[in-house]
Amino acid sequence: MSVVGVLTAGGDCPGLNAVIRGVVGRAIERDTEVVGIRDGWEGLMNDRTKPLDRDDVRGILGRGGTILGTSRMDPYVHGDGLASCSRTISRNGIDKLIVIGGDGTLRSAMMLADEGLPVIGVPKTIDNDIAGTDTTFGFATAVQIASDAIDRLATTAEAHNRVIVVEVMGRTKGWIATYAGIAGGADYILIPEYDYDLNAIAKTIRGRHRAGHSYSIVVVAEGVNPPEGYEPLVMRKDAFGFERLGGVSYQVADAIEDLTQFETRVSVLGHIQRGGTPAAADRVLATRLGVSAADMAIDGLTNVMAAVQGTKIVPIPMKVATESIRGVPQDIYDTAATFFG
Ligand code: F6P
Repeated sequence: MSVVGVLTAGGDCPGLNAVIRGVVGRAIERDTEVVGIRDGWEGLMNDRTKPLDRDDVRGILGRGGTILGTSRMDPYVHGDGLASCSRTISRNGIDKLIVIGGDGTLRSAMMLADEGLPVIGVPKTIDNDIAGTDTTFGFATAVQIASDAIDRLATTAEAHNRVIVVEVMGRTKGWIATYAGIAGGADYILIPEYDYDLNAIAKTIRGRHRAGHSYSIVVVAEGVNPPEGYEPLVMRKDAFGFERLGGVSYQVADAIEDLTQFETRVSVLGHIQRGGTPAAADRVLATRLGVSAADMAIDGLTNVMAAVQGTKIVPIPMKVATESIRGVPQDIYDTAATFFG
């Protein structure tokens, strides 16, 4: 009987458990064993595994986090590639691996596949920015959480005649900011893909307040450049060498308050966007991805990821996910911008 290993790596994302459940459900249906690898690549390098059957995945569909745990360790950064994983692979008889992760994780998955281990990727990020797939699970949940927060912040901003700057996740692309901003009726949305002009924003805010709209909501993606005249914040780095972002909205708020003289406050949503129960749409998408990834592995595909294209889940080369990062297209940002001011 063939054995599929499954691991979750990188930052967590609502829907990971639904993917794992999807993999296990379909694998068992097709007489294939599943071995769960704990704590991402770290567990693969250090032989931390547990068999997964139907009972192990009951009741996890709506749970946030990942029952397998995750880490930011990487077999090519912290080990010797496939060689550093071979003990776990042979001891557990793993002949196919399903890797659920973001672009960094998929790059390592692709390298393992190049070294000869059959690997299937499942793209994962709340940021919705992985190339080759129309969308990623977790994004819908993050947008809902951020748009609920904007609704709440709007009423307190209105009560105090304030400007509130809401910072959402989005390391290099502003999908969450744009979608939550549209859904929450934001008065401005700042994202890394497009330059912003704080003088113009301040002018609009002053105009709004003169016209009787005595509060404003500005949504900022964490990855935007600081306003002119402000130094980039010094950030600690994670195990992949990525900066731990967060805080640019304080600089944006400071500049807005200076330019408008309106009291301006900040709310950084942070990991709240990743925690808790996944939205129904993410549970469905994650289940479909898990089931499809199991089929791809069992059918003998390798070096591909399960991607959303239109209404279908299709295998595409993992390489696609590593070559670029998918940004918010101009037409979607223009739709948001129609309501600025
Ligand atoms: O990649 C997804 C993401 O949510 C980014 O938007 C964010 O910068 C990052 O993860 C933060 O992750 P962590 O705090 O786990 O390193």
